Amino acid sequence: MCRWGAKTSSAADDVRVDADSADRTGQVTVVELPKDFYERVKPGLHSKIGRELRSAQRILDLGCGSCELVRHLADRNDQEVTGIDISSGHFPETRRTDQGVHFGCLEKDAAQLEGVADGSVDAVVMMWALHEMARPDCVLAESLRVLRPAGEVLVVDFPKDSLAQTLWDEAYRDPEEIKELLAGAGFARVRVRLIARRQVLWATGVRPASRTARDPT
Ligand SMILES: C[S@@+](CC[C@H](N)C(=O)[O-])C[C@H]1O[C@@H](n2cnc3c(N)ncnc32)[C@H](O)[C@@H]1O
Repeated sequence: MCRWGAKTSSAADDVRVDADSADRTGQVTVVELPKDFYERVKPGLHSKIGRELRSAQRILDLGCGSCELVRHLADRNDQEVTGIDISSGHFPETRRTDQGVHFGCLEKDAAQLEGVADGSVDAVVMMWALHEMARPDCVLAESLRVLRPAGEVLVVDFPKDSLAQTLWDEAYRDPEEIKELLAGAGFARVRVRLIARRQVLWATGVRPASRTARDPT
């Protein structure tokens, strides 16, 4: 029986409100998890991302979709947030949050951020998006280029062999592959871990003072 399906399950509530609490390393059987696990964990992840990037003023969200995270960050810390997506199909009609904070949306391939100046942003975040991007090496090289020295990249994605694999079966990566991608792009202090009952991959890196990234071709 699916224990997550039980009415008023407190464990399910934990998943919804606190992504941090799920940092345990125990083995998780994905069949124990509800199909809407990722919807439940999303608000907690948005809050966690907000805390991680709290000191950044200018942020790019690559693969922003409908700009849910963009709006959360703009409201939470009054940050200058711009969402970028290869398709504008899900962009919101209004570019203001409920609290009246302006945000930007640009239709653009994250692998070619022309128009975004070198060293012009404090943080780049990608939530559930890197696995969909055809050239992750170019996306990370561009992220490095637009970040200021010591600026942070944050990749939040579905890991290989997670519940997402069972649900959608896309080309997800394991922590080692993400680590290699980030380090290969030239990021320093790369850290990758699995959170939220090991169903979410959380990776960070910083742009070193001098860029030594390989030029992906
Ligand atoms: C699964 S959605 C995630 C959307 C959003 N980040 C969220 O958390 O709900 C992945 C998004 O990545 C976008 N995407 C895929 N390839 C892209 C690229 N090369 N550049 C920019 N966005 C891309 C898709 O259009 C889609 O909106």
